[in-house]
Amino acid sequence: MAIKNVGVIGCGLMGSGIVQVAAQAGFQVLFVEATDELVTRGLGRLRETLEGLVAKGKLEAKARDDALGRIAGTTRLDDLKGVDLVVEAMTENQALKNETFAKLDRICPPHAILASNTSSCNVTALAAATGRPGQVLGLHFFNPVPLMKLVEVVRTILAADAAVAAATEWVRAVGKTPVQTKDATAFIVNRLLVPYLLDAIRVYEHGLASLEDIDAAMKLGCGYPMGPFTLLDLVGLDTAMYVAEVMFEEFREPRYAPPPLLKRMVLAGQLGRKTGKGFYSYS
Ligand code: 3HC
Repeated sequence: MAIKNVGVIGCGLMGSGIVQVAAQAGFQVLFVEATDELVTRGLGRLRETLEGLVAKGKLEAKARDDALGRIAGTTRLDDLKGVDLVVEAMTENQALKNETFAKLDRICPPHAILASNTSSCNVTALAAATGRPGQVLGLHFFNPVPLMKLVEVVRTILAADAAVAAATEWVRAVGKTPVQTKDATAFIVNRLLVPYLLDAIRVYEHGLASLEDIDAAMKLGCGYPMGPFTLLDLVGLDTAMYVAEVMFEEFREPRYAPPPLLKRMVLAGQLGRKTGKGFYSYS
């Protein structure tokens, strides 16, 4: 199946990255946001990013204009009636996602693949909410989407080979490397990454070392591109806590339980870069 028209639901941190890479790869992209203001903000963010790349000499002005010409935003889910693929990138709320997938199933053409960028929701539940469970899967991108090469292609026990193959081909077409994983909470990357990030918070809480020294240790001692606290601030502490809670709920293993400090920082609104303060300050 040839994918040409792509719908993206949500144009926040992850959604806008998915819109950007798809449009730059030549796909027509229509994103859906909750309000006109969020549509305008999403388009502004995309324009700013692409203009930044032109200013740095990393993108031709024509390529920027072509990519922007392929992007449109709407507040109406019904406008996705002509797409071949939807990538849903809303907030992590299973009930809301189930409801959205049921609606998408009624709106999108029968051949369309319905994918979720979820990092922790149950993809099988999304498939079961539709009348086309074989064409529902996970396409889990990583933050920051334009820079991170990986996409986890999440296959449920209901998935059809043809849909998985078409989605995998699309992942390659947007310049990413696909890996295939079963639909089991947290998939490959977060299953391994989240306990590491939670352990970093625990050793900091226990006074082992400073934030800066733990970050430097993992960066310089292990060759990681950033230390755990820089990464937590990038991912968002609320997202990290949510994923940890879902993992704890699923596996009931203490290593997935969010540490007290993480819970308190989220309650205090210290969510990382996006709020200007997390483990570090960003003013
Ligand atoms: N589109 C295209 N290019 C972009 C861009 C965009 N939107 N934004 C920035 N760039 C370019 C910049 O122009 C820059 O180019 P230059 O070097 O020529 O100036 C280049 O990308 C790199 O920018 P940075 O200087 O910011 O890059 P760094 O070398 O510092 O690397 C990083 C940044 C890629 C984020 C690296 O630190 C890294 O890999 N960190 C780890 C990130 C990670 O682990 N992410 C996964 C999080 S977990 C997750 O997402 C799962 C979820 O479910 C929770």
